[in-house]
Amino acid sequence: MNVKEIQALKGKRKITMLTAYDYPMASLVDKAGIDMILVGDSLANVVLGLDSTTKVGMTEMIYHSKAVTRAVKNALVVGDMPYESYQVDPKKSAENARRFIEEAGCGAVKLEWFDQCPEATEAIAKAGIPVMGHIGLTPQTIDKLGGFKVQGKDADAAKRLIQEARQLQGLGCFALVLECVPDRIARIITEKLSIPTIGIGAGPWTDGQVLVIHDLLGLYERFRPKFVKRYVDLSALITKAVEEYKAEVVGGKFPGPEHCFSIKEEEIKKLKDM
Ligand code: KIV
Repeated sequence: MNVKEIQALKGKRKITMLTAYDYPMASLVDKAGIDMILVGDSLANVVLGLDSTTKVGMTEMIYHSKAVTRAVKNALVVGDMPYESYQVDPKKSAENARRFIEEAGCGAVKLEWFDQCPEATEAIAKAGIPVMGHIGLTPQTIDKLGGFKVQGKDADAAKRLIQEARQLQGLGCFALVLECVPDRIARIITEKLSIPTIGIGAGPWTDGQVLVIHDLLGLYERFRPKFVKRYVDLSALITKAVEEYKAEVVGGKFPGPEHCFSIKEEEIKKLKDM
């Protein structure tokens, strides 16, 4: 999948996107035929146990993006630009975006809306790097939004979102994530844009959907937003498997003969005099 193929899906069929942060998960998501894989800065929460996405930097994001691109054969891999890579100094944004492409092998980058977002987006797009926008609830600047709340709930706030969406499209974004916005506002934005919108907590009318893979698989227990659908409870399955392993080791049931390597009796006899 490349950017053009993703864009061509708008109006034809829904676009699928999930996060992945390592080789085994990225392989599985790719084999399942997901169109785009986001190496999200949600890595901070669901993999590293941190309390804010602002606590991961370029080092962690490039390291995990490399593991993902090693696994992926078909999906478009999107590297999520961490806070330090473009919000601290927007002039560094294109340079850092290029590292995702050249060092990590990603096909595109994503960045969240903030005050100087247009400047950073323009610099990345002008450098020829495919860039995805992200508006609505933007966790990197959650303090400015007054916490984890649905965005665009009144007409003025919704107008601002529509303007941001139009501006990002005009600056060259190839697609746009809409996070935690009322479904009817997401529909208006989707209809007004020619680029695909990818929703998370934005209802059914966006051009595609994205979820954090740990939420979908029931691997993250700390926080469960309303918009998440858990398709399987892997935490329970993993805990059960680990408990069984412990019981079998303690009870002498594992390893069984089928897990052992044998040696001929005559070779053992040769050891008798030792
Ligand atoms: O980091 C992330 O996982 C994201 C998605 C929630 C879109 O940005």
